[in-house]
Amino acid sequence: MHEITITRPDDWHLHLRDGPLLETVLPFTARRFARAIVMPNLDPPITTVAQAQAYRDRIRAALPAGLEFEPLMTLFLSEATPPAEIRLARESGIVQGVKLYPAGATTHSGGGVKQLENAFATLGALEKHDLPLLVHGEVTDPEVDIFDREARFIDRVLEPLAERFPALRIVFEHVTTREAVEFVQTARAGIAATVTPQHLLYDRNALFRGGLRPHYYCLPVLKRASHRSALLEAVAAGSPRFFLGTDSAPHLRAAKEGDRGCAGIFSAHAALELYAEAFDSAGALERLDDFASRFGAAFYRLPRNRGTVTLTRSEWTPPAHYPAGNSELVPLRACEPVRWSLKGPPD
Ligand code: DOR
Ligand code: ZN
Repeated sequence: MHEITITRPDDWHLHLRDGPLLETVLPFTARRFARAIVMPNLDPPITTVAQAQAYRDRIRAALPAGLEFEPLMTLFLSEATPPAEIRLARESGIVQGVKLYPAGATTHSGGGVKQLENAFATLGALEKHDLPLLVHGEVTDPEVDIFDREARFIDRVLEPLAERFPALRIVFEHVTTREAVEFVQTARAGIAATVTPQHLLYDRNALFRGGLRPHYYCLPVLKRASHRSALLEAVAAGSPRFFLGTDSAPHLRAAKEGDRGCAGIFSAHAALELYAEAFDSAGALERLDDFASRFGAAFYRLPRNRGTVTLTRSEWTPPAHYPAGNSELVPLRACEPVRWSLKGPPD
């Protein structure tokens, strides 16, 4: 197969940031994806429907003329989120999920949840109003090895949570381990997962190839090769519980390369192309359409997009960096070839 045409896809996990950086990154996503679930971890986070509405307006205002794109908004769950806000979120029609960050797990998550019990009433409201809970699935216990934090989250938090709220729909975001794949495959109905391009294409060796590589650092961190294989097998098998979520998470170069470099990989410039590469490597290109354009919409109970995008098997090389204000954004695969291209005018 040298060319593949799929239904216009969606990105079910995306960081768009705000202000000038939003303007820099949004066109890359809008050229490829019709919709995206927009993460709420701004500083301060998006905790109310009113804030989500204002953020949505800013995203739409930043969209270049001629591009159509629908931001699907989320709220940041804190222990202080009142159950009444969940009803408002459901009624708003613009909020599609609520994000659980264990406090301190990642970028701008300090206001996240410390004790899950303190959020039970609000989680009950999510279940009642049938609004999905989106989960950053890592424990924050510093005693737990960073490579084990996702696996520990499953038995300590996610399994009990899924049992306590049996009708709550849950997206286990950016899964990275065999344990997560097995959990999702065997879990009760209403549980799904997103998978990023980097976790399908790289293992943890990438973090150290030829020296310390901060642009391969994200959370959950890349895992060993056997975990990558498990993820690739799961998506190649075509299970509807796994769908596309890039977790493209831009940070300016200085923030990535400084002491305590930030977690996050910017992949929006080549996201769909990189997924095509991953599916191709698994001999599963015919499954890309479902993964990118069908399973996520079905989970969120949204219509499939109209229109198509076409990818061709032809190499191109992302630049060393993209300009971002008076700084730079280093993309995934900078200066190295990507084997699939998006048909149409370039970015
Ligand atoms: O690598 C990450 N970056 N993981 C996250 O969970 C958050 C994200 C960000 O916002 O930078
Ligand atoms: Zn994320």
